[in-house]
Amino acid sequence: MQQTYFMIKPEIVAAKEQKIGDILAIVNRAGFRITRLAMRTMPRELVEDFYGEHRGKPFYGELVEYIAGGPVVTVRLEREGAVAALRELIGATNPQDAAIGTIRDLFGASLQNNAVHASANPEDAARELALIFG
Ligand code: PPS
Repeated sequence: MQQTYFMIKPEIVAAKEQKIGDILAIVNRAGFRITRLAMRTMPRELVEDFYGEHRGKPFYGELVEYIAGGPVVTVRLEREGAVAALRELIGATNPQDAAIGTIRDLFGASLQNNAVHASANPEDAARELALIFG
């Protein structure tokens, strides 16, 4: 069994019509087990570390503001081949490029407001899970 990190981003949590349950149902139906789950506002320093690989990019400041700006849902998921399977399930970073039926296609609005995050590879999964869940 492999573990990966999944996060539902602030605009979904803040929306009047919350889609948290719909998104988690898609994940469960795809064979993932939820083994940790919390809703929290991440401190700015934690968000800066979390997105450290993007430090220096033009969108970095705005990205940090946005993610630290409200509660997110943090999730640890388990499945065989979890990291790659979850990336496929969520679709491309930009919802406009995301395959039909993927989570970002269904719930994403823009490159920044793309509904969810999933670890890109097993090393990132280990790093992100340690940062978020300790
Ligand atoms: S890239 O282009 O390789 O840096 O993209 P990627 O590694 O897939 O993820 C970039 C994350 O930053 C968020 N973000 C943006 N990316 C690109 N351009 C703009 N303007 C932008 N604004 C925010 C994007 O949503 C990715 O977040 P995560 O949480 O990783 O999906």
